Amino acid sequence: MPAPDIANAPRMDAYWMPFTANRQFKAAPRLLVRAEGMFYTAEDGHEVLDGTAGLWCVNAGHGRHRIAEAVRHQLATLDFAPAFQMGHPIAFEFAERLAAIAPAGLDRVFFTNSGSESVDTALKIALAYQRAIGQGTRTRLIGRERGYHGVGFGGMSVGGIGNNRRAFGAQLPGVDHLRHTHDLSRNAFVRGQPEHGAELADDLERLVALHGADTIAAVIVEPVAGSTGVLIPPKHYLERLRALCSRHGILLIFDEVITGFGRMGTPFATGYFGVAPDLVTTAKGLTNGTVPMGAVFTSRAVHDALMIGPSGAIELFHGYTYSGHPLACAAGLATLDIYAEEGLLTRAASIEAQWHAALHGLRDARHVIDIRTIGLIAGIELEPRQTAPGARAYELFVDCFDKGLLVRVTGDIVALSPPLIVETSHIDRMVATLRAALARLE
Ligand SMILES: Cc1ncc(COP(=O)(O)O)c(C=O)c1O
Repeated sequence: MPAPDIANAPRMDAYWMPFTANRQFKAAPRLLVRAEGMFYTAEDGHEVLDGTAGLWCVNAGHGRHRIAEAVRHQLATLDFAPAFQMGHPIAFEFAERLAAIAPAGLDRVFFTNSGSESVDTALKIALAYQRAIGQGTRTRLIGRERGYHGVGFGGMSVGGIGNNRRAFGAQLPGVDHLRHTHDLSRNAFVRGQPEHGAELADDLERLVALHGADTIAAVIVEPVAGSTGVLIPPKHYLERLRALCSRHGILLIFDEVITGFGRMGTPFATGYFGVAPDLVTTAKGLTNGTVPMGAVFTSRAVHDALMIGPSGAIELFHGYTYSGHPLACAAGLATLDIYAEEGLLTRAASIEAQWHAALHGLRDARHVIDIRTIGLIAGIELEPRQTAPGARAYELFVDCFDKGLLVRVTGDIVALSPPLIVETSHIDRMVATLRAALARLE
């Protein structure tokens, strides 16, 4: 590999990087310059195994020519079409294709450009739905502690990660949170769903008693919480939450931005858990990370309730300039073709047991206080340093990168979510790199 061209390296001052320690990063940057299959190439030429599917989004692996071709062709054919009171054919085609694989019963699709926009869209649809069916007092939105639903004001407000909220004022009014389900004292080192904690769903009864069911429009949860560090729902928890929402006329939204499109070994986590929400938010995986896009899936009951008024009336005053963007739809259609032809939406099911076994092999590694795995997801929780929470996992992340493995860290939790094309050799390499890095770590 040629040496990096330091003289011509771009200055780094202008780019304000997202969710990044900007000053620390710019002092010692980690730059990726190419990607193919399971690997990135860093700027200095070293290969980095992608243990995180980019940011949980490159489910079919990198550098898929079919997607590149589809986008190139679309760009040369129809680069943009307005989305309001106008359309273009492949937006409809893509929605139909998505409806065919949608979580059971959720075959109406609203396009957005990100997970954050999908969440805000779903929350707004829930509010509009309640109003349309004569339940206009239901304006309250319920999230869950440690939940991550993106960075819009809606998603931030229902989200439950302190650092993501603290600097940003009073948030949306009328939002409350269920307790989170993390309980290491009862559920450490579990493969799949933990035994204990279904009763935590009953926390919704507390909020119903406090606020009144007739004030609550919707509950939003991640079926598997990713960004907070992989929290897997206890057995029967989601079923209980579903039953409580139904009993109280509350819509249930599953935020499947990370679990959608095969991460669990089923197309969506709703299928994995056998629990049917009223709306599902998606984004990552929709276009294999190539062109920003999100999609909200709703039931016909929700959709049809809003198809009211004179036929010339706009039913939902909501949407984005780039909703159903032609390039995103082209990328998405090619992505669905790849998923179908390579069986990727269900492939994780065939390697889940191997994944569990390999990752849980790190149980005796230094600093590890928990390992949790489900689908093609793993969370490895480290004992935090007394005086510097998060430092240990961050050092591990940097060391792994230097040694050729990309992991993701949140606090002192390492998260893994490789592309769904991962092979045994890659899994072995991930585990070996992590084991060596953990042994070196102070
Ligand atoms: C569950 C969940 N919801 C929403 C989002 C926000 O997605 P985006 O960063 O595309 O806005 C994320 C991103 O990680 C997520 O994990």
